[in-house]
Amino acid sequence: MCAEPVRWDEPSATWLVSGHEEAAAVLRGVGWSSSPALRPDAPAELREMPPGNLLFSDPPDHTRMRRLLSPAFTPRAVESLRPRIVEIVEAVLTGLDDETDLLREVAHLIPVAVIAELLDVGEDGAELLLELTPPLVRLLEPDADGDAIVAGTAATTDLAMFLAPLIAERRKRPGADFISAMLAVPDGLTEAEVAATCVLLLTAGHETTAGLIAGSVLALLGDPGQIPLLLADPARAVEELLRVEGPIKRVVRVAVTGHELSGRRIEAGQTVQVLLQDVNRAQGPLDLSRDPLPHLAFGSGIHYCLGQALARMEAVETLPRLFTDFPGMSLTGHRRRDSLTFHALDELHVAGLHRKPT
Ligand code: HEM
Repeated sequence: MCAEPVRWDEPSATWLVSGHEEAAAVLRGVGWSSSPALRPDAPAELREMPPGNLLFSDPPDHTRMRRLLSPAFTPRAVESLRPRIVEIVEAVLTGLDDETDLLREVAHLIPVAVIAELLDVGEDGAELLLELTPPLVRLLEPDADGDAIVAGTAATTDLAMFLAPLIAERRKRPGADFISAMLAVPDGLTEAEVAATCVLLLTAGHETTAGLIAGSVLALLGDPGQIPLLLADPARAVEELLRVEGPIKRVVRVAVTGHELSGRRIEAGQTVQVLLQDVNRAQGPLDLSRDPLPHLAFGSGIHYCLGQALARMEAVETLPRLFTDFPGMSLTGHRRRDSLTFHALDELHVAGLHRKPT
């Protein structure tokens, strides 16, 4: 039996939306806010979070920031990064032990290296990010409590403190990096917004892409008959993997006005959880031979993932390489993350990573 597309969930006191049309209506409609501080149960700590975060902002601030950031993330702009991404993948896959935790040693390292390079924050920046990601991503859980928010905000501050001198330096001596590009726009982002955007890019671009890579490897090792389909058409396969193994399970909105959705009345001030994973998976199991189905793995509407072209490229360049370089790869153990927001792993152990003789 299918769950109702819009239903009230008493324990969380929120609406759950799992119908495709209804989810699209929330994500693309007006009268919804992305600000966690507006949630009726928002801990006080949330109201003290630094402003300037695109993901949590609403129009008109969101519209202004998004317009300034979008040019750097068009498919064309991202295409210019492909050669460097190929090199990063090559470097990460070289020198792996025969048995390894693929999540730690591959899936996390590739997106961190890519974003660290985009922002030119060096190895120190990449290392700091790997260390700070767990508390930062806890902030995105709808059940994050006061302690989690304090820890997440502290991690945000640590990262912002690391970035502050770097931003000041780039203002004086611009480079070819994305921080310099953000600062160069006349009437562009404020310095606080540039810092918040760096933190957002470093976190949004990391955990998600790592989750997609690791989740896809796990799914395909469990269903190896589909691996040739990945190798034959990586871009098409990645769409289907995004649909079924998409790393974001849900996004949250607060109703700013009253809404009528599938015959249910949602009052202003109530919280809605849009269950992206349920919407996507209702269309059927993983089948890499099918024509790509539309999916909501990257959300939709004004907050549609800014990094989608980059994430797709990283997955397309990484997944086929893994299976061609290591045809004997096998699963030896894994642990799923207990998370409301992320479809993620905490461990993904594989063996048989000897390179194919050339
Ligand atoms: C497989 C990888 C990824 C997935 C599944 C993913 C998913 C999403 C989703 C669902 C949203 C919408 C959130 C909402 O509506 O509240 C989003 C927003 C965003 N993503 Fe991604 N993301 C991925 C990778 C990336 C990468 C690589 C970057 C950047 C380098 C990135 C940057 C962003 C930003 C900046 C936003 C906020 C956009 C806005 O609020 O206008 N993401 N992402």
